[in-house]
Amino acid sequence: MKLSLLRTISLLASFSSSALAAPTQKRATICNGQAALCDRKYSNVSFVGAHDSAFVGQLPTQNQLKSVSDQLNSGVRFLTAQTHSFLNSQYMCHTSCWEENSGKVQAYVQTVKTWLDNNPNEVVTLLLTNGDKIAMSIFDSIFKAVGADKYKFIPSTSPNPMPMDSWPTLGDMITAGTRLVVFIDYGADEKTVPYLLDEFNYFFETPFDTTDPNFAQCTMDRQNKADNDGKSSMYIVNHFLDMKIPATSVLVPDRADAGKTNAATGTGSIGAQADLCVGSWGKQPNVVLVDYFGQGQEMNAQNTMNGLSS
Ligand SMILES: *[C@@H]1O[C@H](CO)[C@@H](O)[C@H](O)[C@H]1NC(C)=O
Repeated sequence: MKLSLLRTISLLASFSSSALAAPTQKRATICNGQAALCDRKYSNVSFVGAHDSAFVGQLPTQNQLKSVSDQLNSGVRFLTAQTHSFLNSQYMCHTSCWEENSGKVQAYVQTVKTWLDNNPNEVVTLLLTNGDKIAMSIFDSIFKAVGADKYKFIPSTSPNPMPMDSWPTLGDMITAGTRLVVFIDYGADEKTVPYLLDEFNYFFETPFDTTDPNFAQCTMDRQNKADNDGKSSMYIVNHFLDMKIPATSVLVPDRADAGKTNAATGTGSIGAQADLCVGSWGKQPNVVLVDYFGQGQEMNAQNTMNGLSS
């Protein structure tokens, strides 16, 4: 009697410990805040992204009002940022490090990594510019130094670049823990560092630095390397408004009009340009980049592009 009770207990114990040890990663039921996005391919999701996300403040060289963490907390899942080489290190600088320096690339990547640690059901994309043509091994060492490579997404390698329809769903990426997608605008080499993706293998872009408040175009500017007609690319819409400082040719971000530019609907809004883009390209933009995230109803616009209610 005593023995069989003990045996039962030990059987139960081994059963429950093996159940605990089973390698079953729980599947997310909410992905990037929406159940419907779990089964949606990454390449079929629309993101409103923060342009020049690292340049935060009130100066004309600064494009955002919220810190990078607050951008993420407010729903931004696509961040672009400029990187430059300065004093033998890599910094977040606007055109030049004398003009605007928002600190080391490593600190920026650390912020994003910490946020991913705390938000396990979120897929985040970084698009970094590489104006000084820094070697990918240097970016790689920065991501590794803060452990951000833990979350790296690596596309399937054959065919390479991975075709648009081969992207996994957000749910798959969350389950696999590959929730950080990183693009570099110039100088990427996926053969040496396979998670630093060449932006123009995957996207084309519309014109940037526009001064037309109506954003009355959705034309191709910088094209995808493998896809001249844009039919098999994701695409990025540059929906941030610049203004010319009177009597100069200097362009600065137009903060006064950010409410209208970042509105979900109406003339010059995110929604109006997205509609124009659907007319031009037959599908919603993958990314709409804005300055001054939070000055309009950007998340409503994102939900509309994704066919979701706000
Ligand atoms: C996602 O797919 C739907 C259905 O085909 C389409 O209407 C929408 O434009 C697509 N969005 C993107 C970003 O590809």
